[in-house]
Amino acid sequence: MCGIVGYIGKRKAYPILIKGLHRLEYRGYDSAGVALINDSGQLNVYKAKGKVSELEAFCESKDTGGTIGIAHTRWATHGEPNTVNAHPHYSESERLAIIHNGIIENYAVLKAGLQQEGYTFKSDTDTEVLVQLVEYTQVNRHVDLKTAVQLALQQVIGAYAIAILDKEHPDTLIAARKGSPLVVGIGEEEYFLASDATPIVEYTDKVIYIEDEEVVCIQMSESSNPLTITTISNVVKTPEIKRLELSLSQLEKGGYPHFMLKEIFEQPRTLTDSMRGRVNVRQDNIALSGFIDNKERFLNAKRIIITACGTSWHAGLIAMYAIEEFAQIPVEVEYSSEFRYRKPVISKDDVVIAISQSGETADTLAAIQLAKSKGAFIFSICNVVGASIPRVSDSGCYTHVGPEIGVASTKAFTAQVVALTMLALCIGREKGTMSKDQYLRIVRELGQIPDKIERVLGQNKRIADFAKMFTYAQNFIYLGRGYNFPVAMEGALKLKEISYIHAEGYPAAEMKHGPIALISQEMPVVVVAPHCGTYEKVVSNIQEIKARKGRVIAVVTEGDTLVSKIADYTIEVPATEECLTPLLTVIPLQLLAYHIAVVKGCDVDQPRNLAKSVTVE
Ligand code: AGP
Repeated sequence: MCGIVGYIGKRKAYPILIKGLHRLEYRGYDSAGVALINDSGQLNVYKAKGKVSELEAFCESKDTGGTIGIAHTRWATHGEPNTVNAHPHYSESERLAIIHNGIIENYAVLKAGLQQEGYTFKSDTDTEVLVQLVEYTQVNRHVDLKTAVQLALQQVIGAYAIAILDKEHPDTLIAARKGSPLVVGIGEEEYFLASDATPIVEYTDKVIYIEDEEVVCIQMSESSNPLTITTISNVVKTPEIKRLELSLSQLEKGGYPHFMLKEIFEQPRTLTDSMRGRVNVRQDNIALSGFIDNKERFLNAKRIIITACGTSWHAGLIAMYAIEEFAQIPVEVEYSSEFRYRKPVISKDDVVIAISQSGETADTLAAIQLAKSKGAFIFSICNVVGASIPRVSDSGCYTHVGPEIGVASTKAFTAQVVALTMLALCIGREKGTMSKDQYLRIVRELGQIPDKIERVLGQNKRIADFAKMFTYAQNFIYLGRGYNFPVAMEGALKLKEISYIHAEGYPAAEMKHGPIALISQEMPVVVVAPHCGTYEKVVSNIQEIKARKGRVIAVVTEGDTLVSKIADYTIEVPATEECLTPLLTVIPLQLLAYHIAVVKGCDVDQPRNLAKSVTVE
């Protein structure tokens, strides 16, 4: 996945494009580039390996004039990260320049056909094939740029969000999408394009979310109606203008050193936002519109399949415990990348819950398409309004936690757990498979969770202090049971993805089946041991580790007197309902991973090799 930005209008394009790329760097940052048509009609393309700041340094001595341009920050899919493979790509004649987010799956066939026509290629990318195909179509079919783009895209198999310039038409900016996100911002005599709204929000709150196989044509010389949208088959579409809910301040770090820490500390507020209008403590009720509108589908479901990746998959694992406990519907939790290819048995009586913060994860999108093709009902839990996954789902629930910029997911995870818990409670209450008292107790406790998270966050300094003692470690093990087994896996993922320390999460009882052989003083063991469920069993697991000289960091319930006597370090969280303990026990693990990574000098918000949204396989 990559980030694309475009601008056409009354202002100098370059500053707007570069600032936009910085906002999108979380989508990928192994190389970046910009294409501008200056006032003399010259098409200039500048590219640099590395982050956007490298491109800025490169452009300092260049002609960055012009009021039309496109720019791109890359996460390599085809071709290694280098300047040649960086976008934008010129066409053969250097008349056109293109940027692209996605994968052209049939690029090899298209490339062979163009090579037979005498076209040559400088890069290894699928994107360069696309711009050559557009030029070939424009020249040989004697059509304008928009038509050439439409005809070329009709031959393309795969995913794309593109923007393309033609130096012979400096008043025209063309864009299109299929499978990768694209948003248009509408200003005063100026237009913006981007992969999401973050580069647009400071200029306008009027946006259009482009749909699959739509082509955007912005022609400033058409002053009465510069912007038109058609399909790739040239069917005219009526633009649906929406108002942005994002504010620029949401994008700023708000005084925190990293977006990740800001987002960890946002969780009391973001969970309040997530429950607003849904959890009504005074009326002892949960109102989840996605459930209310589709009640029968859930009540008659023979099975619920949860499909997701990474952290979202961990949220799905927690949901399995809650849905089976409260709604007594069998649940299967699937990695989307496996589910989409393993020929699963899916029926129209199945409900599929797709969980995705970005709403653009390619594997989860494909898993949904597979389930839809077999008649299953799709319910998605997503954080990005207008993203691809909610748009292909039958219904769903937005988590509404605002943009999650840190690559390591934190506030989105807790919001996913709340959304899934609300869903489990709604189904259980409606089916009568849980008592009214239990339902009321959990609804009221949900309302207390933001304040209880606030209390856990109050231990940030203490966690930062003892995190310093573990930066030496090459390996960690995370253990938990029941609702906190997925928390152990999530804590391990947080640590490995931002500190690059190897970490594994296990059900605590699994220790005897191999991992206990690893115990040594050099390998810290984090045990999630709140006072609920199989607490006594977890205490035994801790004793087994201590007997083998393991060092234990335990997350316990406030007032715990047993574990705190045997563990080396303890972090206390307030007592709560067992099904809600993950919302509290995950916080210390987020902070522990963050502080270890910071002490190690890692790039916390943009860890190596990772990107915020994996929109390619
Ligand atoms: C989580 O910290 C990671 N960034 C990653 O595992 C992420 O959860 C996964 O790629 C799924 O992303 P999604 O929720 O946007 O689909």
